[in-house]
Amino acid sequence: MPMRKPVVVVGSLNLDLVAGVERIPLPGQTLTGASFQTFFGGKGGNQAVAVARLGYPVHMVAKVGDDDIGPRLRAGLQEAGVNTRWVTPARGTSSGVALIATDRSGQNSIVVVAGANGKLLPADVARLESLIRSAAIVLLQLEVPLETVARTVELAGRHAVPVMLDPAPARSLPARLLKRVSWLTPNETEAVALCGDGVQGTPNSRQVQQFAERLLAQSGGYVVLKLGGRGAFLAGPGGLRQYLPAFKVKAVDSTAAGDAFNGGLAVALAQGSGRELLQAARFASAVAALSVTRPGAQPSMPTRREVLAFLRRAQVQPARDFA
Ligand code: RIB
Repeated sequence: MPMRKPVVVVGSLNLDLVAGVERIPLPGQTLTGASFQTFFGGKGGNQAVAVARLGYPVHMVAKVGDDDIGPRLRAGLQEAGVNTRWVTPARGTSSGVALIATDRSGQNSIVVVAGANGKLLPADVARLESLIRSAAIVLLQLEVPLETVARTVELAGRHAVPVMLDPAPARSLPARLLKRVSWLTPNETEAVALCGDGVQGTPNSRQVQQFAERLLAQSGGYVVLKLGGRGAFLAGPGGLRQYLPAFKVKAVDSTAAGDAFNGGLAVALAQGSGRELLQAARFASAVAALSVTRPGAQPSMPTRREVLAFLRRAQVQPARDFA
């Protein structure tokens, strides 16, 4: 078999501290949780594990703290099959943590404390230019400093390596950065933040399509708007505008569903010619659907075999306003 170019993920690693609650607390409210568990997480680590579980080679570039959590985060990635050569400790810093409340319907709220993730600097990725040059695709999110994300995008661009940016957590981004992104994958909240729009609550299908148009005009490639249980909306050059319904599943925990989607999309694109976006997004959607049926971030990522079996029997659930 010819050598496959790896996926390279530059991003965050967190220990997720997860409380199961009846409902997400309101401001000023104290609630009694029903359960507590810890999982390996962080948007970067989750995407890397998603890729590895699907049987595709993946390198993680990240910083962990010099506490007892750091080696555990690293070991968790290794166990999943991620190459961790470039996961290094940041001296005098604690590891990233995420405080997560998950309700009975699988919805969550997350507070992230960056810790060592904030110490992944542009110079760290500049040293890895040959790794980035060797990649089939580079995956980025926004839990590490924006300058590091920008430097990685620039290095990838220098070698014509496509970049998939998950603009999470939500924030606005410089136009020159968006222009260099091949795959922009916001969820609804992130799309609102990127478009600087005042939309409150869940955008309807017309608003989603408007966001996709606006982001497409700003980005250098494709926009994949992730709509959770409503599916996804794809927009790309050449007039591509396509709604993709979600698969029907019983959601237990939606944490990292977006990361599962990006990992799946990256693998499908890296393996295909890059022209079959619709099939790639369908595969990604199946990876995400399976991930929400299991608790936790990294432990919820399915194997390729599980995804293929799911796709043979899965039923879609078109969102009412898109159908
Ligand atoms: O996307 C889910 C992830 O967000 C969690 O694993 C948590 O660590 C936060 O980074």
